[in-house]
Amino acid sequence: MKKILVIHGPNLQLLGQREVDVYGRVTIGDINKDLKRIAKSKNVALTIVQSNHEGEIVELIGKSKNKYDAILINPAAYTHTSVAIRDAISAVNVPTVEVHLSNIYAREEFRRTSLISDVAKGQICGFGKMSYVLGLEAAISMIAKK
Ligand code: DQA
Repeated sequence: MKKILVIHGPNLQLLGQREVDVYGRVTIGDINKDLKRIAKSKNVALTIVQSNHEGEIVELIGKSKNKYDAILINPAAYTHTSVAIRDAISAVNVPTVEVHLSNIYAREEFRRTSLISDVAKGQICGFGKMSYVLGLEAAISMIAKK
């Protein structure tokens, strides 16, 4: 069975209450429910983690080699700041899909730079919960071809 690690970065535990004009009313529980349903239907095992700590995310990624076939990550604010997360993805060489609920290119200037996107296989942003759904489907089809 293929295994995928899903990482939700900082503040995403607050979805549903946080900046609802930007992120909508969807909760992390709603997202996880959809991801689990898709994974089950495609016979893929998911491990889902939310962390507000950069070092914890770096460690999770660092230990992912030979443990997971792909990573689906919303690095949240660390997208724009974390060389450490970027280097971890680059170091383990586990194919990674970057997702964002909002369209980071249509927001403040500082969000338009992702330090992650060029070490990721691809990025999906701007579709709310669907960004995760599409990202998981992309990750599953990517590892099925391997
Ligand atoms: C986000 C976009 C980031 O800029 C922001 O810091 C987040 C969420 C998104 O999913 O749209 O926390 O990653």
